[in-house]
Amino acid sequence: MTVSTREIPTSDLDLFTDAARLDPYPLYERLRALGPVVYLSKHDVYAIPRYAEACEVLDDWGRYSSARGVMMNPQLNEQLAERVMLCTDPPDHTAIRALFGRPMRAEELRNLRPRLEQEAESIVERLTGQESFDAVTDLAEHLPMTVVSTLVGLGEHGRQHMRRWAGATWEAQGAPNARTEAAEPVVEEFISFAMTEAVPGKLEPDGWAAQLYTAADNGEIRHDQCPFFILDYVTPSLDTTIHGITNAVRLFAEHPDQWDLVRHNPGLISHALNETLRLESPVQQFSRVVTETHELGGVPLEAGSRVLVLFGSANRDERKYPDPKRFDVTRRPSDHLAFGRGEHACVGMPLARLEMNALLRALSKRVARFDIIDSTPLLSNALNGLERLEVSVRLDDSVTTE
Ligand code: HEM
Repeated sequence: MTVSTREIPTSDLDLFTDAARLDPYPLYERLRALGPVVYLSKHDVYAIPRYAEACEVLDDWGRYSSARGVMMNPQLNEQLAERVMLCTDPPDHTAIRALFGRPMRAEELRNLRPRLEQEAESIVERLTGQESFDAVTDLAEHLPMTVVSTLVGLGEHGRQHMRRWAGATWEAQGAPNARTEAAEPVVEEFISFAMTEAVPGKLEPDGWAAQLYTAADNGEIRHDQCPFFILDYVTPSLDTTIHGITNAVRLFAEHPDQWDLVRHNPGLISHALNETLRLESPVQQFSRVVTETHELGGVPLEAGSRVLVLFGSANRDERKYPDPKRFDVTRRPSDHLAFGRGEHACVGMPLARLEMNALLRALSKRVARFDIIDSTPLLSNALNGLERLEVSVRLDDSVTTE
């Protein structure tokens, strides 16, 4: 096809500095204003900051491949390409995803639901009886850690290190910087654990990880694929959900009027969750490699170039969401991109929603107000959340009018 010679919007913004990671939104706004595709000279990548083009990329795995890695760190891309599910294309991806999705089928989650709801009730009951608590470690970590450590079945040693390993795998995906460098040895430790310790005989026999080895015994996948697929179960399931929950608590603390709407109308909970995920998306970006020269949004893209889908920016695109910075639990943005979209849309989404829903529901029954005592922002190459969020709560009968 003929490719236009139109000038490509270019920017020298660095999306991986500390300042950019702590508050990327003004940079995203500038990128969206520059165009649908913006060449970032610092990273040699084409940023996709707007919603419509982000959808085009995510919907077309043929032109935008994941099989050469979806991160910004070339070393990690090389290490994980075609090894973790996230970094494969169909037909490999289709077969692996069917296997992966098995423990998260509707029927399995229906059985899990009462247990999760009960866990959520008891943790919320305990924390709301305290003077204050950290919404990250005391509240948000509990369900994802319990669910993943029990269901994946890595055993005690693995359980102890899961959060550290998962966190490092996220940090290692940034464009090379100090955080990426510090994370790389920890990722190596995780891979080495998966290869030597997370193996039949050492895994909990009923866990998801052990089931991967059973699938390999049945010829559905190869044995050497199992350790990397264990990474696929652990890495994306912890910090994402933890920050999703923490971001929700922060937003409701800052917008008590929106919390009032939710607690007086529990039917709004799932919409409110979508709105928190849209406004403060836990995962900020993933990339793809262009497989054939073509145009996107009128901008020429050459085969072999890398595009960076900015979920956090697309979810605040003013072309898609009117008044995008406003937190509005009645907005119902079910088409947000926080869970991705297309072939690689988050396979754990139903589980994440179940966990987040259970906690928010339990909180809405008891808590009238969240008051932030202190917080520490998260400085991360890929994630958006908080390191710490110390809150106190006022219980339902303690708030009359404000
Ligand atoms: C709020 C919580 C979560 C968020 C925001 C989130 C976000 C995402 C995003 C944006 C993608 C798309 C990746 C891409 O396009 O390249 C994705 C994929 C994925 N997620 Fe999640 N995720 C969450 C929870 C979970 C959980 C609980 C699991 C549990 C196992 C999980 C497992 C996965 C896997 C395995 C993929 C790869 C899917 C594929 O390649 O087909 N995620 N997630």
